[in-house]
Amino acid sequence: MKLAESLLKSPGTPMFNIEQIRSDFPILKLKINGKPLVYFDNAASSQMPQSVIDRMIRYQTTQHANINRAVHYLSETATEEYEKSRNKLKCFINASEDREVIFTSGTTEAINLVAHGYGRKFISSGDEIILTTLEHHSNIVPWQMLAEEKGARIRVVPINNAGELLIDEYEQLFNKHTKFVGITHVSNALGTINPIKQMIEFAHARNVPVLVDGAQAAPHMKIDVQDLDCDFYAFSGHKLCGPTGIGILYGKAFLLEHMQPFKGGGDMIASVTFEKTTYNTIPHKFEAGTPPIAAAIGFGAAIDYLSEIDMSVIEAHEHDLIDYATEKISLIPGLRIIGDATKKVAVLSFAIDKIHPHDIGTLLNQEGIAVRTGHHCAQPVMRHFKVPATTRASFSFYNSMSEIDALISAIQKVQKIFS
Ligand code: ALA
Repeated sequence: MKLAESLLKSPGTPMFNIEQIRSDFPILKLKINGKPLVYFDNAASSQMPQSVIDRMIRYQTTQHANINRAVHYLSETATEEYEKSRNKLKCFINASEDREVIFTSGTTEAINLVAHGYGRKFISSGDEIILTTLEHHSNIVPWQMLAEEKGARIRVVPINNAGELLIDEYEQLFNKHTKFVGITHVSNALGTINPIKQMIEFAHARNVPVLVDGAQAAPHMKIDVQDLDCDFYAFSGHKLCGPTGIGILYGKAFLLEHMQPFKGGGDMIASVTFEKTTYNTIPHKFEAGTPPIAAAIGFGAAIDYLSEIDMSVIEAHEHDLIDYATEKISLIPGLRIIGDATKKVAVLSFAIDKIHPHDIGTLLNQEGIAVRTGHHCAQPVMRHFKVPATTRASFSFYNSMSEIDALISAIQKVQKIFS
């Protein structure tokens, strides 16, 4: 019995009906090039269910005003709804307090916030920052910029040919200069799930704080920041069935309190004179200016939607999808899977002999299939595997086994064209 089926048959687990789930997503009814859309670019951005779209329209049509600024009905309502969303996110990741959840424009801004707010204050010349080969550029470049400014050094955890981190080498990178660790929970290019709990424990035993880039993990599994004991955890709304332009940074309250603000402006202050400004308490200290209120409320609605399905049910269905897809695609001659870690989310990167990934992507699009081709903003990963680019099919819980069959047939058709 498949994992998802067995979970669904256990008493007390919520029901998962793939057709019903799919009907919640209006975009999945589209035809592209005359073919039913098969959306396999979920690692880049997921799609929104009608409930999220409706919630944002309801906000815009009946609840919109600026937040934290006025005593009139609409401003109070908008503030309340915005803060309710923060609380939903806090519960979703099991943070201990609402104020540990900072709204950002997405994962990239969240990581930049830590590089500026923590890094510029606490990292100095000669210090070392540990990153991994599996990082997305957004968890490399902000640290490089900081290292350049401060005279700090970046150390990198290597990977094996399955696309897994070499944990012994990670441990050997620590020394008295190590001041920070940034790790991705899940590789966006390969789908590898990293043993972050173990890595965090090791870093903490040496008093080194850890930031986790959770952009590719939060959509696929239950995240418990207290259990992980991470210091920072970042992810984006648009990869979790929410809108673009919104994400969160979770940070332990005492760290956020000691950090310097990232952006200056309205709402992040306690008092301002031309001589001196004092800052607001967290989370407001990090939310300068008018935030994307509708997006934050839409993100909250997406969290409601996912929680109703249950992340463990989502994880089980996606597990079945990747097992099925891996088994089928491995039978295709001339196709090489890039990254076959033992622990993976539902991401399948591959290369086909003598066919450029962009040609594969273009031809799959003609069949109505959306995949991402390119370096996936993870050039160090591409360099490790000695490929300039891959074709990446990334699945979501609203994908079905028959869509994977469609991908397999379309790949075979592409190979015929080039044979
Ligand atoms: N980070 C996103 C991806 O992996 C955009 O596609």
